[in-house]
Amino acid sequence: MALVSAKGILEAARDGHYAVPAININNLEWTKAVLETAQELKSPVLLAVSEGAGKYMGGYKTIVGMVNGLLEELNITVPVALHLDHGSFEGAKECMAAGFTSVMYDGSALPFEENLAQTKEIVRIAHELGVSVEAEVGSIGGEEDGIVGTGELADPKECKIIADTGIDFLAAGIGNIHGAYPENWAGLSFETLQAIKDATGNIPLVLHGGSGIPEEQTLKAVDLGVAKININTECQTVFAAATRKYIEEGKDLEGKGFDPRKLLAPGAQAIKDVAKEKMTAFGSVNKA
Ligand code: 13P
Repeated sequence: MALVSAKGILEAARDGHYAVPAININNLEWTKAVLETAQELKSPVLLAVSEGAGKYMGGYKTIVGMVNGLLEELNITVPVALHLDHGSFEGAKECMAAGFTSVMYDGSALPFEENLAQTKEIVRIAHELGVSVEAEVGSIGGEEDGIVGTGELADPKECKIIADTGIDFLAAGIGNIHGAYPENWAGLSFETLQAIKDATGNIPLVLHGGSGIPEEQTLKAVDLGVAKININTECQTVFAAATRKYIEEGKDLEGKGFDPRKLLAPGAQAIKDVAKEKMTAFGSVNKA
């Protein structure tokens, strides 16, 4: 099945009271692991690409080529959207031109009026192309690929104004953080999430910083309208741990254990395990 916009995937999730994982990819192994798991579990999925990961993989056109090739040759029939994560204005335009089917324009660090104007322009361009748009209000805490946020609680009134630009789904800070959660983390603010939901109506909401949020909080967020949960750090840490174990056990020194197809296999399996765990927890299994 060809890449699709994320709009239908998220609206179905919102209506069905489950969430779909958006998993950040970094290379071929990552992409293959996520697609194979989604297919096995019959789950829709978003492949998320940060601008840093885009550069790392050679550029947006390379990613589009890789993903389209895998969809065809692995016979992937579940809905898959290729989504820019935390994009700049220029990055979002480049991704759309390259063939991404969904973009996040993140103007949350800008003064609100500027974020609003740029979001409107991205929506105009994207919707002519059938590309879905995510925007952000209130920065997500922590650091991801050089994007640093202080972790504000979004203002529901600002969420409503941004939602009214015609975006397809909204990321709003509710105390969530990219990367590991500190010991003294206060947890998600469900009060803020409820207020955002009340202000914005039916628009699907997005929860960033999905790694390490306790499952009961995740499920409560889904109950309150979250339809997409972003996962990055957890895949990175399990990939690194599995690769470390392989090397520490000396397996790269046994026979042809140095072959990258062997060396990277435990890490790829670890990503599959995380993807499976998230799809099961978020309720997206058998929803394709
Ligand atoms: P984590 O790295 O905390 O899983 O967050 C991912 C994310 O929100 C990507 O935008």
